Amino acid sequence: MKNLPKQRLRIGFVGSGFIADFHLKSMLGVRNVDVTGVYSRKAANRQRFADNVAKLGLGDCKAYDSLEAMLHSGEVDAVWIVSPNYTRLDIMRTIHAEVTAGRSAVFAIACEKPLARTIAEAREMLKLAEDARLNHGYLENQVFATPVLRGKEIIWRRAASTTGRPYLARAAEEHSGPHEPWFWQGDKQGGGVLSDMMCHSVEVARHLLTAPGAPRNSLRIKSVNGTVANLKWTRPSYADQLRKRFGAEVDYRNRPSEDFARGTVTLEDEDGNELMIEATTSWAYVGAGLRIQLELLGPEYAMEFNSLGTGLKIFMSRAVQGAEGEDLVEKQNAEQGLMPVLEDEAGVYGYTDENRHMVECFRKGEKPMETFEDGLGVVEMLMGLYRSAELGETVHFPAPELENYVPVVARHGA
Ligand SMILES: NC(=O)c1ccc[n+]([C@@H]2O[C@H](COP(=O)([O-])OP(=O)(O)OC[C@H]3O[C@@H](n4cnc5c(N)ncnc54)[C@H](OP(=O)(O)O)[C@@H]3O)[C@@H](O)[C@H]2O)c1
Repeated sequence: MKNLPKQRLRIGFVGSGFIADFHLKSMLGVRNVDVTGVYSRKAANRQRFADNVAKLGLGDCKAYDSLEAMLHSGEVDAVWIVSPNYTRLDIMRTIHAEVTAGRSAVFAIACEKPLARTIAEAREMLKLAEDARLNHGYLENQVFATPVLRGKEIIWRRAASTTGRPYLARAAEEHSGPHEPWFWQGDKQGGGVLSDMMCHSVEVARHLLTAPGAPRNSLRIKSVNGTVANLKWTRPSYADQLRKRFGAEVDYRNRPSEDFARGTVTLEDEDGNELMIEATTSWAYVGAGLRIQLELLGPEYAMEFNSLGTGLKIFMSRAVQGAEGEDLVEKQNAEQGLMPVLEDEAGVYGYTDENRHMVECFRKGEKPMETFEDGLGVVEMLMGLYRSAELGETVHFPAPELENYVPVVARHGA
């Protein structure tokens, strides 16, 4: 990386869907950044994204008709990979090839969760980034969620410092199911809700348990125990609903992936103390919308957060008529009654601080708090949990047999 710090970072997006829009909203709260490029396969999608950048005043964004064209443009310093999980590795291989051949001056890369579908893929993502000498950041927004930033800081400074470290982190993320067909296809996504959402829960829990400033490996994973289940979407009427909404490719009567997962991860700190992560996730929660619940417990204290326990609530009587929307809360399920509203979803979920952190690290040539190494660590936990659920027993780490492991639901069509 040369000539750093840069005054401003110019970033290009690969992908222009749901999460790309969230990132754009959050960029309003990030300084020293311009969004200068976007590539996705469909012209209408990438142009809509570029128009949105202009509307938000976030830069002069060009819509490119190939990834190579964006990489060669000389107008992009860092790439945000926000396309589906099954596209990651090919995108990363192209970036690696163009950078190592000297055809692209891109010097940093950020990638959405999960880093990859398997440990082998995640390891290759990391290897490609390092080999091309790219600074790399893993986009796990919950680590940057404002309640996590504030809660962790207070717990560790005031309570853990005087009464001892926290020992139990609980994390849950639930909603009523993803918005695009590829999420429901085990081979494309890498699994079901365990890989899609427990990637958040295990990492935010590990982060809360880790002392501020300490490296991730200050906590050693000893074992994992996982359970997966199909609670809702394999019921024939719901399987048929999925088929109707997403087409024959999403076949939950014959090829379901799990819509519920729970996991425990047992860890050990440097003094030999046992610590525990308890995570639960589902695509079978019908409440107001997305619900994230976090707890951190220690010998004389407790912290808790519930994303639907908002200060702002809006009540609308049955006389209020209107179209369905996602304008009150992510994965919204109703437009009437008493509804919780997050005034700043991008901030509370962590996207604003995440992007601020990544932009500043990349601009200055510093290592981000979350890197592809952490993304690989997350995939290791997830594969251990899937293997445990398959065997019906606890998996002890290190577990070299997980290197080429593919979850049962991701083997379909492989
Ligand atoms: N942090 C979070 O909480 C969070 C939330 C949601 C999603 N995510 C992650 O973000 C990623 C994207 O999810 P999403 O919800 O945005 O999905 P999405 O709504 O399906 O959007 C995917 C985007 O990728 C583009 N795309 C598809 N194939 C591509 C390819 N080969 N090359 C370039 N672009 C391609 C699509 O546009 P075209 O059709 O025009 O190519 C589309 O714009 C996933 O990895 C997901 O796990 C994270």
